[in-house]
Amino acid sequence: MHTLSEYISLVEKRIREINYPDEPSGLYAPVKYVLDGGGKRIRPVLTLATCEALGANPETAINQAVGIEMFHNFTLLHDDVMDHADMRRGRPTVHIKWDERSAILSGDAMLTMSSLMMGDGTDPGNYRKIMDVFQQTAMKIYEGQQYDMDFENRRDVSVDDYINMIRLKTAVLLGCACALGGIMAGADFRDCDAMYAYGERLGLAFQLRDDLLDTYGDPIVFGKEIGGDILNDKKTWLSITALAEDESGVMADELTRPSEPNEKIERVRALYDRLGLPLRCQQLIDSYVDAAVSILDNVSMSPAAKNFFIHLAEESRSRSH
Ligand code: IPE
Ligand code: IPE
Ligand code: MG
Ligand code: MG
Ligand code: MG
Repeated sequence: MHTLSEYISLVEKRIREINYPDEPSGLYAPVKYVLDGGGKRIRPVLTLATCEALGANPETAINQAVGIEMFHNFTLLHDDVMDHADMRRGRPTVHIKWDERSAILSGDAMLTMSSLMMGDGTDPGNYRKIMDVFQQTAMKIYEGQQYDMDFENRRDVSVDDYINMIRLKTAVLLGCACALGGIMAGADFRDCDAMYAYGERLGLAFQLRDDLLDTYGDPIVFGKEIGGDILNDKKTWLSITALAEDESGVMADELTRPSEPNEKIERVRALYDRLGLPLRCQQLIDSYVDAAVSILDNVSMSPAAKNFFIHLAEESRSRSH
């Protein structure tokens, strides 16, 4: 197996090789800005590592890996418009640096470029299998993003509703990233499915941690503004549990009346603290990480490969960016 930083180097190299037309620059400049702007690259790493773990040279799946990263970045462009988010990866988001129209259209271009890239040099049999998994996953992400918005205006969202929403908007893409690596390796479909399940559980932990960092993270390290979920009335495990357990009515009150943004964030965070929610949220994150790791027992791979995926899952328990 390669190391995490070796996989990331392969991804960065392929991203640098992307040939953008010069014109119209208004379309391609935001694409390049976003894709060159860093990020953890966890999804393409999952693709390359699964490809290698299931028996092939990781570079066999490099176009699928970077295609998934391109798609992920497309979702971020539109997500930041939908969430009124002004900062990502420590820099202004595309709709701030350019405008909303650019974020929509450059996002559209990235969606198409992701499919083109996944097909680049891919034989027809694999292309068909890749596109089946990828397109089905993409539809789930749009469904998840719609629930995410719908839930902003609802008070009756259950923890199960929330888990299903984050499974759709976030977790399935990590699952898909793994499965595409397996498909490109020509692996048995049972191993591809099991790796999809690993990625999905990892993705649930990943989004729960993202939600925790949205309230408790360090904005410099996290690279995003803190408190956006609270200001947008997002339904997260934290807000749903606070609404259910808070007898003082602070949470219900914050969801109804308009208030000064910093005060709202402070009041809601103080309530979360009072209810001991950060620790309990972390316990839930840990349970999904454990579930991800236990799935690896069902996949035929070398001990080194298994260790790689265990290590990746362990890291995501406590990530701060
Ligand atoms: C952000 O994903 C969106 C979520 C699903 C939480 P990442 O946290 O992977 O973002 P980057 O690519 O590393 O910036
Ligand atoms: C991200 O959820 C889900 C997708 C982009 C599909 P968030 O809205 O929590 O992601 P961030 O916090 O903006 O990265
Ligand atoms: Mg967002
Ligand atoms: Mg969002
Ligand atoms: Mg978030």
